[in-house]
Amino acid sequence: MRLLLVLIFLMFDFRVAQSQETSRDLVERGQYIFSLAGGCACHSPPKGTPHAGSREFPIPMAKVYSTNLTADKETGLGDWSDQQIHDAMVKGIRRNGEKLLPVMPYEAYSGMAEEDLKALIAYLRTLKPIRKETPVLKSWAPLYRPAGTFIWFKFFSRFSNAPAKAPQKGVERARYLVDHVALCSDCHTPRNFMGVPQRSLYLAGAKKGPLGEEIPNITPDKETGIGDWSRNDIADLLLTGIKPDSDNVQGLMSEVIEAGYKNMKREDALAIADYLKSIPPIKNKIDK
Ligand code: HEC
Repeated sequence: MRLLLVLIFLMFDFRVAQSQETSRDLVERGQYIFSLAGGCACHSPPKGTPHAGSREFPIPMAKVYSTNLTADKETGLGDWSDQQIHDAMVKGIRRNGEKLLPVMPYEAYSGMAEEDLKALIAYLRTLKPIRKETPVLKSWAPLYRPAGTFIWFKFFSRFSNAPAKAPQKGVERARYLVDHVALCSDCHTPRNFMGVPQRSLYLAGAKKGPLGEEIPNITPDKETGIGDWSRNDIADLLLTGIKPDSDNVQGLMSEVIEAGYKNMKREDALAIADYLKSIPPIKNKIDK
């Protein structure tokens, strides 16, 4: 009898240990997704507290502030359920049922594999709580959020079907990372005045990026893009922030590298590089 009890206890203990192991693995996997996602750098003000939000983004007729992602219960995500974080990230629905403005790239994230999103959410929960209230949207236009998001959702939004598992290799993996996790395409593709991506200029750069700055053309066009970069040049840039001419990359690009891309496996960086070299070159001159 006693032996039986010991055996049952050992089995139970083993199963608990096993489930702890898997949740640790999940968080670790989530940390890698977080790196691939550039450390969600838009939620870290350049000189402020990492992940505590409050970064200002200029949008037409308004200013909007990124959310506190830390586990603080009152001002961060501490009190949100996994489902609520999921819905905000991939459906653009806030906890109070309002819609998020498409500055938050939920449309792009809607194609993130379910297993990756689950891991990312598990990792976000480990961010040390920091109390910081996110300022509310500022706009002189009445009903900016409800009217703007109504029009966006009705006429322009284009959501993807998330695969259960992420592609692991080659061009499939690279396209997945570029469009749905690292979001290169979100910054490097221009948008019209409504914030709708101009898909015919995929990755061909923008005169005004998320902060109003110039975003280079990264298609293989020789004159206006990165046609003369080798695959190793591109991978090195993603992992170190250093360009082939030995210059450091600046602005948001240096932030996403520092906060995340630099921890990308070289294999993933090279897959992205090969993909960039394979897309159609587009002539689109960005800098003056
Ligand atoms: C948050 C916005 C943002 C994201 C996301 C982003 N970039 Fe950039 N990227 C920029 C900006 C801004 C610059 C220009 C930096 C500068 O002027 O030094 C840039 C520069 C570059 C350059 C240098 C081009 C040149 O001609 O100097 C390359 C290559 C590049 N990005 C590739 C990528 C890839 C690949 C990804 C995804 C893995 C990516 N970027 C994601 C904003 C972004």
